[in-house]
Amino acid sequence: MHKVVWDMDPGIDDAVALILALRSPEVQILGITTVAGNARVEMTSANARRVLEHLNVDSIPVVMGAANPLNHPLEDALSYHGPDGLGNCNLPPPRMPLHPSKAWDFLARLVLDAPGEITLVATGSLTNVAHAFSLHPELPGLLAGLVLMGGAYGLTPYGTGNCTPHAEFNIWQDPEAAHMVFNSGADIFAVGLDVTMDPAACLNRGHLERINARHTPAAHLAAQLVEYEVKYQGCCRMHDPLALATLLDASLLDFALTKVEVVEGNGWDRGVTRVLPSDSSGLIHVACAVDGPRFLGLFLSRILEEQDG
Ligand code: BDR
Ligand code: CA
Repeated sequence: MHKVVWDMDPGIDDAVALILALRSPEVQILGITTVAGNARVEMTSANARRVLEHLNVDSIPVVMGAANPLNHPLEDALSYHGPDGLGNCNLPPPRMPLHPSKAWDFLARLVLDAPGEITLVATGSLTNVAHAFSLHPELPGLLAGLVLMGGAYGLTPYGTGNCTPHAEFNIWQDPEAAHMVFNSGADIFAVGLDVTMDPAACLNRGHLERINARHTPAAHLAAQLVEYEVKYQGCCRMHDPLALATLLDASLLDFALTKVEVVEGNGWDRGVTRVLPSDSSGLIHVACAVDGPRFLGLFLSRILEEQDG
């Protein structure tokens, strides 16, 4: 069982990943911190709570974090995720209050109190994580690991940009934060577009029909989220669920151990994640292959509340 603190910016795929996590015995979510990214941070903070409340979960604190990237203005992705950030899913506004801490203080406190035990999952831009690491330079070494969705590494034909021709959205949004985190010494597992854009790991209309046929709160919400993306994009990319899947079954993905440069600033190559010839220092694990059918099988079994397989 992985004890997890999760930094997210829901977002359709963050929300789908959260539903998956809540249906999975391999992870225990100790807290959620929210960051601006797919939407303003007030909206991502509301969306995390809307999903939790829909699933009757009131034991996971939601803690608001950064409203803006470190050096750039926020550029949201509501044109992709819908005006409410959750594919117009019609969930009511949240009733549960936000936790009173700041995200980076909350995150740091959890890790400092349980050194070596907490895995940080990050499925938004890395602003909150960078704040926590700069306030507590010992933090990266005290994590059990850091699993993140971000980057495009050119390790497969799918590993090109989705935000610019060269950069992935989470890293592009706050490249300075990503640069700091990638060079922090944390034990990083980066799941990028190389695997999340693999068509074998995407949900299609056939999958949607199966989810739609199941009448549970989890399946109902998942179907609404997936349907919005299938309707407008043709299929539903599983970016953030694939990052989480690293903790559910590590054998679903292959990782290359490599050094990565993150391009900062605001030039044409902003947010590019470049694989460098490896020396022995500062290496991170970068996802380079996924068993799409087996991942989708696991995903559907959890959402549909069946046995795995
Ligand atoms: C990432 O960007 C966001 O829009 C998604 O939630 C995901 O985390 C994919 O590039
Ligand atoms: Ca996300």
